[in-house]
This record gives sequence, structure tokens and C-alpha cells, in this order.
Amino acid sequence: TKSELKDLYSFALDLGRKAGKILMDGVDMRCGDSAGRVESKQEEKMNAVDIVTQTDLDVEAFVKAEIMKKYPSHAFIGEETYSSGSSKEYLITSAPTWCVDPLDGTVNYTHLFPMFCVSIAFILNGEATVGVIYQPILDVTYSALSGHGAWQDDGHAWKKRRALPLINNPAPSLSAQAPKGCLFSCEWGKDRRDVEGGNMWKKVNSFVNMAAEIGGRGGKGGMVHGVRCLGSATLDLAYVASGAFDIWWEGGCWEWDVAAGFCILKEAGGLITTANPPPDPMKDPIQEVRLGSRLYLAIRPAGDSEKETGRQAQ
Ligand code: IPD
Repeated sequence: TKSELKDLYSFALDLGRKAGKILMDGVDMRCGDSAGRVESKQEEKMNAVDIVTQTDLDVEAFVKAEIMKKYPSHAFIGEETYSSGSSKEYLITSAPTWCVDPLDGTVNYTHLFPMFCVSIAFILNGEATVGVIYQPILDVTYSALSGHGAWQDDGHAWKKRRALPLINNPAPSLSAQAPKGCLFSCEWGKDRRDVEGGNMWKKVNSFVNMAAEIGGRGGKGGMVHGVRCLGSATLDLAYVASGAFDIWWEGGCWEWDVAAGFCILKEAGGLITTANPPPDPMKDPIQEVRLGSRLYLAIRPAGDSEKETGRQAQ
């Protein structure tokens, strides 16, 4: 029911902040090794750039236990539960499911680069229905409840925007969507495997090069004002939703990296599409995507003016 969902949303908000506090304990306790990094045991997962820290494991255990206490019948998908190999595949089903990244931006965390956060989503009938992203070092929360809106810090709601023409247009291309002077965010991800149509790293690399090329076309600068790579897919989505970024592209992320951001972006009126880049992503069609894909392109909510952020007091 509506009131159960509102209750669940409040629970998720509170849980995100509590989990963020554990992340900050790790930062506060840092012994300050010569590189000034957070001291937390690290291990490699898929490859050398894909790491897990003791903090990821601790926060996931905490979040999972809290959820199971309150919602024992719900399913749980967590980044570290997945990597521990207790199950091979986690497919999003129609069961009520929590999808959690206890620490998105793990590499940033270990380097004390502040772009790290907790990401908690609740998925109902395959749709991300509640999303909470908490960035503890800045003490900022981004959240959304489907059908009710998206908020930053509980105090600011993002006005529902006119949808971009993407849905109505049978063959939209990125160049048709990107506003002039946009801030473009792109992640290299951690997947170095070969995928259909090439190697994931090379795909991402060529996309970044393309954006850089567009940004400097003719030596005059062009569509792209700047290209950013935050190292947190979750925060990328929050920033697209808030209007700080106009576009975000990534190949290779998982459900837990995007589920909460998916909900927040959609509620803010933005779009998330498949980013399996066609031969020329600037000209060829891009399509809408559902949660569970590996490649994403997020486009900020349309505004009446080009750089309107859409933020307003609640
Ligand atoms: C990663 C970050 C990174 C993105 C990767 C993710 P993690 O998540 O979001 O920005 O490029 O695809 O796996 O490992 O830091 O939780």
C-alpha cells in the first residue's frame, strides 16, 4: 500500500545515513599511511582494478541485517553478497527486492577522494521504486519514491520536468538529446572483459575520446563544456538527476550501482537508456532500457532553459 511504501522509504533514508556513518568511521580511524588512504583490508575481485574493502563487507552486513529484521520476506541483492559467490546470478524478479551497494566508489574511498556513497534501492515488480543515495563526507542525501518525487536532503524537491522527446522519437540520437554546453560524465568502469561487439574498456575509451573530440571540435569548443569521471556510477546518476551533469555514460555497471539512481533520475524526469553504443552514438538511435542492463546512458531532466537545475524548495 501507499503508506507501507512511505514507511519503507523512511526506513531506507534512515538506514542510508546509518550506513554512511560506518563509512565515516573508517575515514576517521584512518591511520594516515604515507599515501593518506583509508586503512581497510582490501582484496581484488574480478581483476586488479576491482577491489573490495573490509568496510564494503561490514556495511553490507549491517544493511542486510537491518533489512532482514524489518522485512524478513524480502529478497536481497548486495554487491558483496554477489561477489562472495553465494549465488551465481542475481536476476531481478517480480519479488520485492532490496538492491544495495554498501560503498559505491570503493576506489575513491580508499584514496579518500570524497566521491563515495551508500546506495539503497527497493525494487517492486522489477521497477526501482525507492532510491536512497547518501554521500556521507558531504552529508548529502538524494532520494526518491516513485510517483511522489525526488529530493535532495529532504528539503529540496526536483520539479517534474517536461520529458525529453526521446520516448516519442523513434530514432533519437545522443546529439539530438545533448544540450549545448553540457557537462558530460563518463565512467571507465572496471570490466575489462570482451563483450558483444568488442572489449568493454575499449568501448568506453572510444566513447570518452568521442566526447572529448566533440568538446574541442574546430578548436572552438562545442557541445561538451567538460568531461568528468567521478568513479561512482551512483553519484553520477544523482548529479544527472539534480541537473549538475547533463549526460552520463557507462559500460559495465551492475544493478546495485544504478538501482537507486535509476529511481531518483526517473522521478526527477530524466531518462535512462541503453548505451550499447551503436556505430556512431551521435547519429544512431539509442533506446530506453530496463534495470539489469550492463550499459547505461542517463540524460538529465529537460528544462525550459538550457541550464535550469530544476531545484526548488519543497
Ligand atoms: C563502481 C563505481 C564506478 C563504476 C563501476 C562500479 P564500486 O562501483 O560505481 O564508478 O565505473 O562500474 O562498479 O565497485 O565502487 O561499488
